[in-house]
Amino acid sequence: MPLAQLPPMGWNSWNTFGWQINEKLIFEMADLMASQGYREAGYEYLVIDDCWSLRERGKDGRIVPDPEKFPNGMKAVADYVHSKGLKFGMYSCAGVRTCAGYPGSYDHEFVDAQTFADWGVDFLKYDFCNFPQSGNCKARYLTMSMALKATGREILFSACNWGMEEPGEWMRAIGAHMYRSTGDIMDNFVSFTDIVKSQLNKLCMSGNHCFNDMDMLQVGRAMTYDEDKSHFSMWCMMLSPLLAGNDLRTMSKETIEILTNREMIAIHQDGACIQAERKLKEGSVEVWVKPLGKA
Ligand code: GLA
Repeated sequence: MPLAQLPPMGWNSWNTFGWQINEKLIFEMADLMASQGYREAGYEYLVIDDCWSLRERGKDGRIVPDPEKFPNGMKAVADYVHSKGLKFGMYSCAGVRTCAGYPGSYDHEFVDAQTFADWGVDFLKYDFCNFPQSGNCKARYLTMSMALKATGREILFSACNWGMEEPGEWMRAIGAHMYRSTGDIMDNFVSFTDIVKSQLNKLCMSGNHCFNDMDMLQVGRAMTYDEDKSHFSMWCMMLSPLLAGNDLRTMSKETIEILTNREMIAIHQDGACIQAERKLKEGSVEVWVKPLGKA
C-alpha cells in the first residue's frame, strides 16, 4: 500500500517521556504494542521524539545517538522494532536546533535523511524550532522531503510546523504525508477542544496520502474517561493521525478499550478519507457527520 493511503497510526514517546527515553524503554514499548493488541488494532509506527542524540554532531557531520540512552545505536533499535512487526519513526527539526536544543537538520537535510535511511527509519517527524529568520519554511520542508526521497527508502514524512503559513495549502504538494496544524496539545479538555475548533474551517485539506495532524493523543493520561472518549472520537472523525502518547506499561482497561476501539478505528480508517463536518450546533449540542464508504 502506498505511504499514508489512510491516516497513520502509532505511538510517540514525547507526551509522557519527553527527554527521558532510552533503548530499554523503547524496547518495552515495542513489546507492548505487539502483545497488548495495538499492532492488531492498526498502530503501526513506534516513534522516538526529541532528545535522542548528543548535543553536537560527530566529526563526519552526522548526528550521533546519545550512547548512554542508546548504547547499541539506532539501527539496533530499528531492528528490534521491525522484529515486532512494527515500523520505526524518528525525529529531527527544520531549524538549526531541535526544540530541546539538539542538532537540527537545517543545511544538513541530505546527510541526515541518508543517516535515517541507513538506520532503517520508516517515519520522520520534522519539527520547526530554531528556524533561522532568513530561512524559507516551504523550501526547507520541500528540501527534507526531497532528501528523504533521494535515499530510495520509503519514509513517511510527518511535517510539524504547527500550522505556520497555512500548511494545508502546500504540504501535500511538497510531499508531506501529514502536517501538524496546531501548537502542542496539553492533557486537558480545553486544549483538545480548542484544537478541534481551530480546524473547523480547515476541512477538505486532509485526505488520502496527506493528513491534517491535530497532534498526538493525550488518551490515558490526565483526562477523565468521558473526556478521553470524546478526544479519541474527534480525532477519528476528523481523520487526524492517531499517535498514542501514553505509558503503555500502566494502562487501565478503559484506556486500552478506547485506544483499540474497533468501531471508531474503522471510521478513522475508512477508505473514503473524508473529514467530518459539524452540521449543527445548538447550545452545547453538536452534530458531526462523516461520510463513509468508498473503498
Ligand atoms: C515541539 C513539537 C512537539 C515535540 C517537542 C519536542 O514542541 O510540537 O510535538 O516534538 O517539540 O521538543
